[in-house]
Amino acid sequence: MPPLSAGLILGIESSCDETAASVVQRGTAILSNVVASQIRIHSPYGGVVPELASREHLRNILPVVRSALAEAGASYQDLDAVAVTEGPGLAGALLVGISFAKALAFALDKPLIAVNHLAGHIHAVLLEEARRAGKSGEQAPEELRPGRQVLALVVSGGHTHLYLARFERTQQDGPDAGAWIYRNVGRTVDDAAGEAFDKVAKLLGLGYPGGPWIDALAPHGNPEAMPFTFSQIKAKVHRKGEAGALDPSESTYFSFSGIKTAMLRYTKVYEMGPSIEARRAVLAGSPDAKPADALPLCDKRTLDLIASFQRSVVDDLRRKTFRAAERWHAERIIVSGGVAANRELRVRFTTEAGERDLPIAFPSMALSTDNAAMIAAAAWPKFLAGEFAAEALTAEPSLKLGS
Ligand code: KG4
Ligand code: ZN
Repeated sequence: MPPLSAGLILGIESSCDETAASVVQRGTAILSNVVASQIRIHSPYGGVVPELASREHLRNILPVVRSALAEAGASYQDLDAVAVTEGPGLAGALLVGISFAKALAFALDKPLIAVNHLAGHIHAVLLEEARRAGKSGEQAPEELRPGRQVLALVVSGGHTHLYLARFERTQQDGPDAGAWIYRNVGRTVDDAAGEAFDKVAKLLGLGYPGGPWIDALAPHGNPEAMPFTFSQIKAKVHRKGEAGALDPSESTYFSFSGIKTAMLRYTKVYEMGPSIEARRAVLAGSPDAKPADALPLCDKRTLDLIASFQRSVVDDLRRKTFRAAERWHAERIIVSGGVAANRELRVRFTTEAGERDLPIAFPSMALSTDNAAMIAAAAWPKFLAGEFAAEALTAEPSLKLGS
C-alpha cells in the first residue's frame, strides 16, 4: 500500500469513445492504466455515436475506476487528487467523467484538477520521457528545463494541431513546480487527419476506426501509384479569420477534406463500387476481423489507393510540422494522438528528424490513443502549483489549448 501523500493522482478520461482511469505517481510512474474501449459499439456505424458513447461511459466508469485503483494497489484514501478531462470532446461523454470525478473529489475531500485533453496527449510523451530520464538517474528530465521550446503535433480523430510548448518553472517552489505554456501555431481548417483515415476506410469498405486498417494495408500497395498532389490537401489559407495572409507554401495549416473527395471521385471513375460493397459485406459478417484479414479482399488498385492516401497525408503532416519547427526554432518535436500510432508516419518523421539532427519523440503505442495516464500526468504540475478546479467545473466541448 503506498504511503499517504505519495503523489498519487487518479486520472479520468471520457471525452470520446474510451472510458479510462489511471493512477499515476508524481506525474511519471504509471501504477495502472485501464481503458474500456467502445469500438465494438460504434463499429457498425463507422463512427462515434454521441448518445451511445455517453450511455457506455455511464455503464463503464465505476468498474473502470475500481479496476484502476485495484491494479495500482491503492485505496480512494491514498489518492492526493482526482484529475479529469474537461474538454475538448463530446459534451455528454465529458459530463459523465466530470460528474463522477467531482462527486468523488467532494466525497473524499481531495482536490479536483481539470485537464485539457490536448495537453494530455502531449503529456503522454513527456510522462514517458520523464520516466526514462528518472530511470537513467538524470537530475532533471530534459523537458523540465525551463524555456526549452518543444513543437508538438497532436494528431487524432478530432484534432490536427501544432503547439509550441515550454515549461516555466515557478522559482520558489520545488524543482518540478511550474506551468506548461502552450501556443497554437497550426491546425486543420476542416477535417482532422484521423477523421480522414476513418472516412476513407469507411468509403473503401474497411473496418472502424480506419487508421489501423489503412496502416496495415498500405505497405502492400505502391504509395506513388496515385497522383494525390499537394494542392489537394493545401490549407485554405485565405479563408477569412483562419490562417491570415500566409503564403500557401509557408502554411502550417492543414486541410484534409480535399483528399477525401479525391478518393471518392477516384472510386467512382474506376467503378470500384461493387468490389467495395463485396468487401464491406464480408467484413460486416465477421465482427472479429482484424485489419490483416482485409488483405485478401483488396485488389492491387485498392491497395495502391490506400498506400497513396496514407503517403499523402503523412507527408503533408511531416512537411508542415518540420516547417513549423524551423520557423519557431523548436529544439525538439513531439508527435502524439491516435494517428501517431501510424507506422509510416513514425518512420518518415524519424528519418527527417535524423537528417535535421532534431530530437523527436512519440508515445508508446498504448499511450498514443486516448487513455487516462496522460490526464493524470498532465495534472501533476497543476497539483504542485495548487491549480485546482472550481466546484462549477463543467464540460467544455470546444476547449482550446493555449493562446
Ligand atoms: O487519440 P485518439 O484515440 O482519439 C481522439 O482523441 O480522437 O485517436 C483516434 C484516431 C482515429 O481516427 C483512428 O483512426 C486514428 O486515431 N488511428 C490511426 C492509427 N491508430 C489510430 N491512424 C493512423 N494509423 C494508425 N495506426
Ligand atoms: Zn485524443
